[in-house]
Amino acid sequence: MVFPWNDYSGRLSPLRLVVFVALFVPAGWVAFAYGFGLLGARPLNEAIHQIGLWTIRPIFLALAVTPLRQILQWPRLILVRRMIGVAAFAYVLIHFMLYTASEAFDFAKVASEIVLRIYLTIGFAALLGLAALAATSTDGMVRRLGGKRWQLLHRLVYAIGVLAVIHYCFQSKLEQWEPTVMAGLLGWLLGYRLLLWRFGQRGWLALPWVGALSVVAGIGTALGEAAYFRLAFRAPLMRVLDANFSAQTGVRPAVVVLAIGVALTAAGAVRAMTARPAKQRLRAARV
Ligand code: HEM
Repeated sequence: MVFPWNDYSGRLSPLRLVVFVALFVPAGWVAFAYGFGLLGARPLNEAIHQIGLWTIRPIFLALAVTPLRQILQWPRLILVRRMIGVAAFAYVLIHFMLYTASEAFDFAKVASEIVLRIYLTIGFAALLGLAALAATSTDGMVRRLGGKRWQLLHRLVYAIGVLAVIHYCFQSKLEQWEPTVMAGLLGWLLGYRLLLWRFGQRGWLALPWVGALSVVAGIGTALGEAAYFRLAFRAPLMRVLDANFSAQTGVRPAVVVLAIGVALTAAGAVRAMTARPAKQRLRAARV
């Protein structure tokens, strides 16, 4: 019997076990909070929001597996990517069901809202994309489709990431702090793939590229935020940009994106200095 917490050789993988359990925690918390009346005056709406956040986060985590396993030289991270992706699909199904419940299970209304409201259309397109990835996530489907076609299909995850961020931004209206952080991080994640494809050597991207990407993603986030405030509220570009250098406006999204990128680059540098070369590791394992 294959358990989700076992690795490919059938042995217990602590990494898989921890991630498997952790993926249930947000849903468990929301169910608990709902049951005990901890979700405020509009509990169903709050549950939709919280589960929405826990849909987009695993999508980002799944996208982060490739960069993280390379930068941190942690190849075993691949063991949890499928699990995280399937969890994202499970969360979007709950998110969608809660939304349907908030419409009193009036499926005709739900369908018409999806057609009429652009942010719901976009969210639903992302849901369909996740469904396609989840349905083809088994080893059997990888074999049936063939590695190349499977990989091509699973590139859909990039489009799903973009749709998820747009859905998030559109429904947030005024509160754009976290959506802007997510948009900046998505820029970093997609930029990493682009640089890897263009400048990677043997599937590896040199750390200076990762550092440069982090700076560009930070600047891009600041410019994106300023452009949004200009278009939505006619706010002067320079005033929004200046806020990134002021302590009074709190930590701005661009600073968060830059800090995460720089921290990752630094972690990669430390790892490169401390990791034993693969050959040495093999020799040690044989002794
Ligand atoms: C992969 C697909 C999806 C992702 C990643 C996603 C993510 C999110 C996120 C992050 C939020 C905002 C949470 C917050 O601000 O605290 C949200 C809100 C919401 N989503 Fe989704 N969602 C997806 C698909 C859908 C679908 C298919 C529907 C329904 C057809 C839907 C309906 C809603 C609704 C109604 C809200 C709240 C809007 C409001 O209160 O004004 N979402 N979603």
